[in-house]
Amino acid sequence: MNAIIKPAVVTPVVAAAPLDRLGRPLRDLRVSVIETCNFRCPYCMPAESHPDEPLFGRINRLDFAQIEMAVRAFVALGVRKLRLTGGEPLLRRDLPQLVHQLAQIPGIEDLALTTNGSLLAAQAQALRDAGLRRLTVSLDTLNPQRFSLMTGGRGRVEDVLAGIAAAERAGLTRLKINAVVQRGLNDGDVLDLAAHFRGSEHVVRFIEYMDVGTCNGWRRENVVPSAQVRDVIAARWPLRALEPNYRGEVARRYAYADGQGEIGFISSVSAPFCGDCHRARLSADGKLYTCLFADQGHDLRPWLHDESALAQHLHGLWSARADRYSELRGAAASGRHIEMYVIGG
Ligand SMILES: C[S@@+](CC[C@H](N)C(=O)[O-])C[C@H]1O[C@@H](n2cnc3c(N)ncnc32)[C@H](O)[C@@H]1O
Ligand code: SF4
Repeated sequence: MNAIIKPAVVTPVVAAAPLDRLGRPLRDLRVSVIETCNFRCPYCMPAESHPDEPLFGRINRLDFAQIEMAVRAFVALGVRKLRLTGGEPLLRRDLPQLVHQLAQIPGIEDLALTTNGSLLAAQAQALRDAGLRRLTVSLDTLNPQRFSLMTGGRGRVEDVLAGIAAAERAGLTRLKINAVVQRGLNDGDVLDLAAHFRGSEHVVRFIEYMDVGTCNGWRRENVVPSAQVRDVIAARWPLRALEPNYRGEVARRYAYADGQGEIGFISSVSAPFCGDCHRARLSADGKLYTCLFADQGHDLRPWLHDESALAQHLHGLWSARADRYSELRGAAASGRHIEMYVIGG
């Protein structure tokens, strides 16, 4: 007798995966699980404009069931890569439980998390046990004074290094280490950062300081183009360009010619990559942002009781998308952008 094989489809049926108005499919989703943070990095959430809680007390966060339903709907439309972020995601209570729920969703091929690392030592094992496989830790400098300055006086570099060590012990391999480079601040620290992780399996990615949000006082003069950072590193340790891991990868990859590992560069300002942007962002309060530089989001709450209706609604929103802010920068600048800590990078 033939066995009846039931397909493991648990996501709603939507006519077809949408393309936006520039022909881009939906592949990646970033979910911000919390909008607040224990750091006050001046390029993201400056202390002057963001004093302490209860500044954020008004925000009505999605619960885990709502986040799971939203992710399932996005998967039905083609999302395969999911990243949890914030604010500082490790401040969200019971985060491993959410990771566990999301790791079960068929269709998710890559589940990752971005953190400032300060609370990682205590949570790395639980996150890994819950199903987290990939981790990005932000670390702009190894210099303790500058690290303190760059986190608004709230962070200690040794806590982040302890978090990275705990992640290694928990079996989280090939971490990404994100370093935002600002002229006159930490541009003299890039060799130290590269040296620290050279010879490990971790990949440092140097990121251009971006004009996200409205409160960081961004000035183009403070951006260090990736090509300059790359030249500084290559003068010390020759580099060889690598092929992207996949189409639309935001980081340009390089290997040390002597086989001591890999680094990357994210050049949103000097070499925008809107043409291959397949990314949607969901804020902690349930709004969809179709661009890192969007000035407003689409509230998904009215659809968050019905997965199929939500998927249809998202289909329409994605089909209408035409954002390419980074490529138009200057010409199209509206002056109002959503803050980075709301959508998580
Ligand atoms: C908004 S944070 C959220 C996750 C977590 N709190 C962290 O810091 O990793 C995500 C990433 O955005 C980066 N970021 C924030 N503001 C930025 C800016 N103005 N330019 C470039 N990157 C920025 C941070 O360095 C971090 O790597
Ligand atoms: S970059 Fe991350 S750690 Fe720094 S203030 Fe923003 S959300 Fe917090």
